[in-house]
Amino acid sequence: MRDITRRKFIKSGVLGGIVAAGLVTCGRMSKLRQIPTPPEVEGPFYPTEDQDDKDYDLTQIEGHKAAAAGTQIIIVGRITDLAGNGIDQATIDIWQANTWGRYHHPRDPNPQPLDPNFQGWAIISSDTDGNFRFKTVMPGAYPASETWTRPPHIHFKVSRQGYDTLITQMYFPNEKLNETDYLLSNKKASERPLMIARNIGEEEDKAVYEYNIVLIKI
Ligand SMILES: [Fe+2]
Repeated sequence: MRDITRRKFIKSGVLGGIVAAGLVTCGRMSKLRQIPTPPEVEGPFYPTEDQDDKDYDLTQIEGHKAAAAGTQIIIVGRITDLAGNGIDQATIDIWQANTWGRYHHPRDPNPQPLDPNFQGWAIISSDTDGNFRFKTVMPGAYPASETWTRPPHIHFKVSRQGYDTLITQMYFPNEKLNETDYLLSNKKASERPLMIARNIGEEEDKAVYEYNIVLIKI
């Protein structure tokens, strides 16, 4: 073997070993310890009026012929504890702006239209293995002040007896406004990726986003 080739070989072998060891360690760590999902402020637009339909399909209000305006998307995820065990029967309370960035809330000052066919709010549960799923529309960005536009996001409140209740906001990948959002950019660099969902493909022409949530035991 020529020297240069041997050097390359040795180098890649050593590096390969390091990478493999890292993967093993990471794999073991991910089983043992998850990072808690960072909390975020509740914001001013939690629904004030109860509504009959709060099911997993926010694109369709029961009894309405038309679906919500906007791009339909699917959000899936798993709720776990710090050890990666699924948490069943967690209550997942979700609310968001419609496709035009307007909340169904009496104090939302955004002049964009309300969507009478958008449910806007859901309360669902995780299954026996901690999984959850809902269908909604991509929320619009909206002005929070003259100099600040909030990127598309979904508000979450996740609760389960025996765990700290988590209030947070889920963001979408590849959104330019994520970079200038005061809330998201105030998070540590290590926390931000935990608050941004991953696009994991498509189902029936709808983009599917994965957003996993880690709760802390009391
Ligand atoms: Fe919001």
